[in-house]
Amino acid sequence: PRLCRRPLHSLPQPPSFGIAFDIDGVILLGHSPIGGSPQALKRLYHDSGSLKIPYVFLTNGGGVPESKRALELTKQLGVNISPLQVIQGHTPFKELVKRFENELVVAVGKGEPAEVISEYGFKNVISIDDYASCFENIDPLAQYKNWRKVQATNCDMSLRSDPVSQRVQAVFIVSDPIDWSRDIQVLCDILRTGGLPGRAISYQPPIFFANDDLAYQALFPAERLGMGAFRIALESIFNSIHPNAMEYTSYGKPNPVVFKNAESVLMQILSSSYHNHLMNGGLKKPFKMLYMVGDNPAVDIKGAQQAGHPWYSILTRTGVFKEKGNHADYPADLVVDTVEEAIDYILMKEQ
Ligand code: G3P
Ligand code: MG
Repeated sequence: PRLCRRPLHSLPQPPSFGIAFDIDGVILLGHSPIGGSPQALKRLYHDSGSLKIPYVFLTNGGGVPESKRALELTKQLGVNISPLQVIQGHTPFKELVKRFENELVVAVGKGEPAEVISEYGFKNVISIDDYASCFENIDPLAQYKNWRKVQATNCDMSLRSDPVSQRVQAVFIVSDPIDWSRDIQVLCDILRTGGLPGRAISYQPPIFFANDDLAYQALFPAERLGMGAFRIALESIFNSIHPNAMEYTSYGKPNPVVFKNAESVLMQILSSSYHNHLMNGGLKKPFKMLYMVGDNPAVDIKGAQQAGHPWYSILTRTGVFKEKGNHADYPADLVVDTVEEAIDYILMKEQ
């Protein structure tokens, strides 16, 4: 059959730029949209509803699988968001599947931490709630935690064998921990005994944090303590009860690897949105500009700066940063009041 190709000039040209949006403090506060985010994001789509400008959400938050988060964001923002567009703090944990595929690993944090990493391919995962419930009296304060009594936790029997006699080979802090006192207690038990709570002091199994944010912006007017604050608390207690200092790995922004990965995801999104153009002999060119729109100078802006070309940083005033001018230590390339202003600026500059 003869191939009928539309001439290249009549096809919509792929943009030479992409955008990464932080979520907390830029797009949402708690579960509510802020800064005109729904109407502003709409401008990144064609009238047909298909994606015009490649963009991702690059958040240090998480706690639910990317597919579920994409559905939640679609509902909250009224635009169609695909799981590929959602990069969460814990998304890079996928890379560790090979190392711990069949090992017992403990998942910590709000939401569905065990489901998140099971979906990545880890096969022997237990949440810290269920793990703690396997050990009688592991948390002496549990009897005073009325809110825990209504929560159904069970010692998970879907695991390959009894979690009490199995060594925990790694711990994943997937999202912000809820019960700091219980979690610090149980994690110290795991980390100081080679993964066998209640046994003798031994080596420390690896612990991975999805981010190292000291603080983030939620609904309360002042910043809230984040996973980085939890890490400091755990580390300082662990270091007081164990001969060797806690070893850990943190993911998330401002790590340059996160920005490299976002760039390659944006390229994948561009390729699938402009598939016809490429099929017709259009060349896949690297991005001329990538915009990071964030609210946290030490995380979003520092990260974009460290990542270098082609990243351009835009700081909003709807989250952690609220000052008039620019940030003193991590000045952004541009400071705006809201994400809507950021999108106005980008579209005006790129047209
Ligand atoms: O817990 C979430 C927080 O640490 C940061 O989220 O979207 O501002 O990167 P985000
Ligand atoms: Mg933020």
